[in-house]
Amino acid sequence: MRKILAVLAVTVTVFSVEGLRGLPSGYCESGKHHGSKTEPQFKEKYFTQTMDHFNFNSMGNGTFSQRYLITDEYWKKGYGPIFFYTGNEGNILEFALNSGFITELAAQQRALVIFAEHRYYGKSLPFGKDSFNIPQIGLLTVEQALADYAVMITELKQQLAATDCPVIVFGGSYGGMLSVYMRLKYPNIVAGALAASAPILSTAGLGDSRQFFRDVTADFENVAPECRDAVRGAFHQLKELAEREDYSCIQSEFSLCKPPSSAQDIHQLNGLLRNAFTLMAMLDYPYSTHFMGNMPANPVKVACETMLSGSDLLTNLRNTAGIVYNSTGLLTCFDLYNLYLECADPTGCGLGFDSLAWDYQACTEIDLCYESNNVTDMFPPMPFTEKDRELYCSKRWAVVPRPDWLKIQFWGDALSTASNIIFSNGDLDPWANGGVRKSLSSSLIAINISGGAHHLDLRGSNDADPVSVVRARKTEADLIAQWVKMERTRLRQSS
Ligand SMILES: *[C@@H]1O[C@H](CO)[C@@H](O)[C@H](O)[C@H]1NC(C)=O
Ligand SMILES: *[C@@H]1O[C@H](CO)[C@@H](O)[C@H](O)[C@H]1NC(C)=O
Ligand SMILES: *[C@@H]1O[C@H](CO)[C@@H](O)[C@H](O)[C@H]1NC(C)=O
Ligand SMILES: *[C@@H]1O[C@H](CO)[C@@H](O)[C@H](O)[C@H]1NC(C)=O
Repeated sequence: MRKILAVLAVTVTVFSVEGLRGLPSGYCESGKHHGSKTEPQFKEKYFTQTMDHFNFNSMGNGTFSQRYLITDEYWKKGYGPIFFYTGNEGNILEFALNSGFITELAAQQRALVIFAEHRYYGKSLPFGKDSFNIPQIGLLTVEQALADYAVMITELKQQLAATDCPVIVFGGSYGGMLSVYMRLKYPNIVAGALAASAPILSTAGLGDSRQFFRDVTADFENVAPECRDAVRGAFHQLKELAEREDYSCIQSEFSLCKPPSSAQDIHQLNGLLRNAFTLMAMLDYPYSTHFMGNMPANPVKVACETMLSGSDLLTNLRNTAGIVYNSTGLLTCFDLYNLYLECADPTGCGLGFDSLAWDYQACTEIDLCYESNNVTDMFPPMPFTEKDRELYCSKRWAVVPRPDWLKIQFWGDALSTASNIIFSNGDLDPWANGGVRKSLSSSLIAINISGGAHHLDLRGSNDADPVSVVRARKTEADLIAQWVKMERTRLRQSS
């Protein structure tokens, strides 16, 4: 789901603050806050977290240091609400820097802002570098992550004298799924959730395996049907070269570091190329960004211009992949196995340690069996069935996925008894149709953002924003203010 391609293009200055463990740990973000008008000064802190919330024997009272970022600069102390970002599969700093709406809203509603890092990602590794070994990886579950957040919120409220402050959770993508689950599981702790681009249905097995790459294709087709045709044509030419085993030609056309030499290498090349289109569709923002790598403004349009720029389709395809993998312009050749990792998530696991953790989650609770077929989408047929997933996961992590579990545990589409959740989705986002698109009640509200890519609404406001997202943020702000008010009433009545 997420793929971090480049080191953050921001500078951070480190200074000492008292961490919760009494250790000096902290920094203050002083880099560009892309697209946002506010410049929050987050402090980095660590929370002493229980390693295993559900088995008292396995780790005893063992703990680990869980990172969170906090700013109280907008907070009406002891009274204003708490806006808590339920961190997802990556370094929490990256989410904090790309979710300017939350701090803008905090400034309006005088909220305390906390961005919590998900266990096993970024710096929150329960077993340090051994975290990704078997069986240490086993404490990486959605349930443990939710319990972390529930415990953290409860204890921080006490430490900060904020026990009467309503808590609203925020999240994008998998983080949005976690926000939904927090409201379902801990409505006593969390008054409402803004779940942006949260594919809670498809990941629970309630989707169509063709949906994702079909919707990626639609983005390119909507720029120009010839663009889709050019992409399909280029993959067709690549297939023909591969069938002739003309590997040296493939190497030179795609500037590969090493010549491919097997069907597996061609499969990897197809995966790497398809991943570039996936990323551009997800991150099709109207201004350039540095989130999961560097993207130009309107990357899908840029890609289509590149795909249609000359008569050599393979050159065009290579240059289009270069928008994603060669954004620095410094790449001398494409390294097939370094730029892209195949994993249990066909939409990409990213690179580095975070990709290991995400692969494990895609092998256990989170079902991402998406495939391309060259009929309902423009990509080469790349099947990924539940059976394929099972084989891969038992080999890689010694686990057997449980495709029904997420749906049982977190209700699937049977959400009618839930309340106070916003499901926002942009129509450019290939994840959108894996989520809730229609309001289910007066407090389970779906918002469509036309012209919006992956959780555009969570980003800070920008002059290039479509009116749809400006309106969506206004609706979200009003609902959240309403929930905060309701929660104050509830807390008063119960005390
Ligand atoms: C667990 O708690 C006991 C009793 O407070 C203490 O003696 C022990 O050191 C703790 N163990 C760990 C792993 O923290
Ligand atoms: C990366 O971009 C630079 C600048 O546009 C270009 O010269 C170079 O050939 C590209 N690398 C690859 C592997 O395509
Ligand atoms: C996609 O389908 C077209 C039309 O059937 C076919 O000619 C082409 O070879 C296929 N492309 C791939 C990569 O399989
Ligand atoms: C949002 O768009 C989807 C897909 O076009 C549509 O089915 C749905 O009814 C719309 N939902 C709202 C709340 O407007």
